[in-house]
Amino acid sequence: MTPDARPTPSLRGTPKEQDPPRTEVDDLREWKRRLSLLLDYARQMSIRKELDPLLGTVVNAAREILQAERCTVFLLDKKKNELWARVATGDHDIRVPADKGIVGQTIMERRVINIADAYADDRFNPEVDRASGFRTRSILTAPLAKMRGEVLGALQVLNKKGGPFQENDEKMFILFAEQAASALANAQLYEELQAAYKDTIFRLAAAAEFKDHDTRNHLERVSRYSRLIAAAVGMEKEWCDRLALASPMHDIGKLGVPDAVLKKPGKLDEEEWKEMHRHPNHGAEILANSDNELLQMSERIARSHHEKWDGTGYPTGLKGDAIPLEARIVAVADVFDALTSRRCYKPAFSLDNALKIIYEGSGKHFDPALVYAFKQVLDSIVQVMEKFTDRPEIPPLT
Ligand code: C2E
Ligand code: SIN
Ligand code: SIN
Ligand code: FE
Repeated sequence: MTPDARPTPSLRGTPKEQDPPRTEVDDLREWKRRLSLLLDYARQMSIRKELDPLLGTVVNAAREILQAERCTVFLLDKKKNELWARVATGDHDIRVPADKGIVGQTIMERRVINIADAYADDRFNPEVDRASGFRTRSILTAPLAKMRGEVLGALQVLNKKGGPFQENDEKMFILFAEQAASALANAQLYEELQAAYKDTIFRLAAAAEFKDHDTRNHLERVSRYSRLIAAAVGMEKEWCDRLALASPMHDIGKLGVPDAVLKKPGKLDEEEWKEMHRHPNHGAEILANSDNELLQMSERIARSHHEKWDGTGYPTGLKGDAIPLEARIVAVADVFDALTSRRCYKPAFSLDNALKIIYEGSGKHFDPALVYAFKQVLDSIVQVMEKFTDRPEIPPLT
């Protein structure tokens, strides 16, 4: 399996004519260097919960430890029997059949494949290079699997600096792939849990909304607008992530408002407004008394998203900073979304009109710092609006 292109494994690049021959001490020193890199990266990988940053760490680690020009992580999509990989260049993932080619073979046979010269090996598909403009020379591919666990995919490094991959590269790669597999399995589990969490929250929140508009998109937009505004005022990622999950529940209290009021095509009368004005407190009651930080945040949002910066909002008439930041953010996001969407009581306004209302509300309805932040990320806001647009073909069900 190991190409014997060179009698002595060369780990630091091609030995030049004048280099002294490598000794066992050199080799031991090189192993030690790599092992300490491996341990260092194993620790870094183990603390990454999310898949995207973890993939980045795995790629950098593999390239450094194996001294390779390129590394690709292929993950198995069992449903489709495909492998997918995120490519650094371009914004799309690549997908290949899980049982074909060199990577497929690595997975099927659960072993390392070491190819000294790709173009001399008929398992190599030169189309891949033609599409990317890269020139593959040597290839080393290992299955991504925990010790006795199932295969998650494969790791591939290309073009070892200074010559083909050697037998000790294979051993190192197997060790590294085991560490990476264990970190990737955890990250996948974490992503599944997050997705399940999000799904539950959106279903719960959707139950409180009404069938006459595209609720899922409305929730997705408010969630994303809120995150963009929060990030623009410098809130840390963890807080922004929490806000993205907490904000869809802002109107959960509408569960307690009669349908006749919610779906009334025209203006609300005084009695109906009274009912409507109860939805923040209804929502806060539903979400109250939780030990969970996410639910605590959504309680504050549900209670205070109709408060206004100048103190003229409801249910309490809180003013300025007394309104929790998360609720001030959702107020901007929610009103912008209400303005740019069709409601049973109003048509969708044009973007310009909606922006005019938001900007005029700065310092009155809204925290001026947040309107300023909203303006700074307007391009991204508009992208979200266009991506999660309500489907016009769905007629209102009144
Ligand atoms: P919503 O439709 O999600 O609207 C959220 C907020 O967006 C509103 O809070 C308001 O601040 C802002 N907004 C919505 N439409 C307009 C508009 O045309 N102009 C301006 N300047 N702002 C607008 P608000 O007013 O406290 O209303 C809370 C909820 O009460 C609304 O949520 C909606 O469910 C209901 N609602 C409000 N007005 C009416 C109405 O005339 N008829 C009916 N059937 N429901 C209404
Ligand atoms: C912040 O900078 O933390 C948000 C701005 C605000 O509190 O209004
Ligand atoms: C809302 O969904 O927030 C209320 C307006 C409607 O029923 O479409
Ligand atoms: Fe509301």
